[in-house]
Amino acid sequence: MTLPEWRVFPDPDELVAALAAALLEQAAEAIAARGVFHVVLAGGSTPLALYRALAAGSVGDARWQVWYGDERCLPADHPDRNSVMIESAWLAHSRIPSGNRRPIPAERGAAEAAVLYAGWLADVPDFDVVLLGMGEDGHTASLFPGHGWGTEAGSPDALAIADAPKPPPGRVSLTAARLNRSARVWFVITGPGKRHALRRWDSGEALPVTAVHGMAETVAWLDAAAWPADD
Ligand code: 6PG
Repeated sequence: MTLPEWRVFPDPDELVAALAAALLEQAAEAIAARGVFHVVLAGGSTPLALYRALAAGSVGDARWQVWYGDERCLPADHPDRNSVMIESAWLAHSRIPSGNRRPIPAERGAAEAAVLYAGWLADVPDFDVVLLGMGEDGHTASLFPGHGWGTEAGSPDALAIADAPKPPPGRVSLTAARLNRSARVWFVITGPGKRHALRRWDSGEALPVTAVHGMAETVAWLDAAAWPADD
């Protein structure tokens, strides 16, 4: 198991500024090479500062294709939906066409939504960048310890979860296998609450985060609160 590059910043603001610049750089490279940038967005609260910075910078256009790492089985307009949080923080204020911003239809139930989402992804190439968060138990997207992560070759692209330990219990997630079909996997992790899980990861423990890695690079973007220098 290879560990990510631990990229530590003094505070979340400096992390967000560097991450936004790196994302723009990767988008420019992908668009120059292939005319399109496929990016997977992380749910949860940590990346909202990044999304707000992207909105402030009017980032994104019709050459961006936006995908979700996971979604919670809640009504499509529920404020706790990852899609609702990300649309309001960034996408609704961007020039990315709505047809390029595909919320996972998790309001239809996990099983049906996972099949639909996998169908959408069938013709989508490897992702350019995957953004992910990490929970205090080492979960990422909606891949949780003690559950299946879809790591095996031949795994479907999307999983239905019915008993997630982080509410709501119903979720849809990209599998580890599909998340790994990405040039770059970037985890965005801040705050002291994540220290223990990061130490477990760094010690080589098998966690959902350890099953996800990019083909070109895997970077954990951290603030000092999550990765204190004196530890
Ligand atoms: C979700 C996310 C989940 C999240 C982590 C970290 O739907 O909850 O996909 O994987 O990224 O739980 O969440 P925070 O950033 O809020 O700590």
